[in-house]
Amino acid sequence: MTIESEQDLEHLKVIGRIVATTLKTMMTATEPGMTTSELDLIGKQLLNNYGANSAPKVTYNFPGYTCISINEEAAHGIPGEKVIQPGDVVNIDVSAEKNGYFADTGGSFVVPPSSALKDRLLHATKLALDEACLYASAGKPINGIGKSIQLVAKQKGFKIIKNLCGHGVGKSLHEDPKEIHGFYLREDMRLLKEGMVIAVEPFLSTKSQFVSEADDGWTLTGEAGNLSAQFEHSMVITKGKPILLTAI
Ligand code: CO
Ligand code: CO
Repeated sequence: MTIESEQDLEHLKVIGRIVATTLKTMMTATEPGMTTSELDLIGKQLLNNYGANSAPKVTYNFPGYTCISINEEAAHGIPGEKVIQPGDVVNIDVSAEKNGYFADTGGSFVVPPSSALKDRLLHATKLALDEACLYASAGKPINGIGKSIQLVAKQKGFKIIKNLCGHGVGKSLHEDPKEIHGFYLREDMRLLKEGMVIAVEPFLSTKSQFVSEADDGWTLTGEAGNLSAQFEHSMVITKGKPILLTAI
């Protein structure tokens, strides 16, 4: 969507804060020995308390309230009986709707003990999102977002998962501009416009450049032994710095 009123912005800030708080609380609550389903229920309860609806559930009938993806799983992991282990790289993606407005956020972390490689992967992915946010302003080409992400990945020695993209958000979970790539695509001629609401979500990885759908029909998984990380913010494009709706 493109923001048309102060009210649009206020509603987006409300749902942005809700998904950000839910993500942060879930990350903090994660303990080895928990199942991903138990973790998801914390998210369900929080969204419920805030009067928000899980976006993947209402949009795609996703079998969970949040997406929880571990190690080789990059995205859209279904919460279930999987037990979280020490050393796991966990990604939680929280998106939700309230009053007809949607926001989307995500983050990765390691359940201690971490390793140098895992720490570097998380740091690089966070930096990629920060650089993309610094870049994103009205009038600039959308493909510069991918360029920013690609530059950090290259500098830090990681791959980009090319078939996972950012997207427009706001009046629905996924809307125009669709497919905001995490790499530079020359033929993408689209421009960022003032008031445009987008979600930027770099996925960096140790090995895989593509993920494929698992037998469960949802989970997007890299090759054996691959580790990936994602950080995601929903934001409003302005002439200057974007308004980060999901930064708390
Ligand atoms: Co997301
Ligand atoms: Co997203």
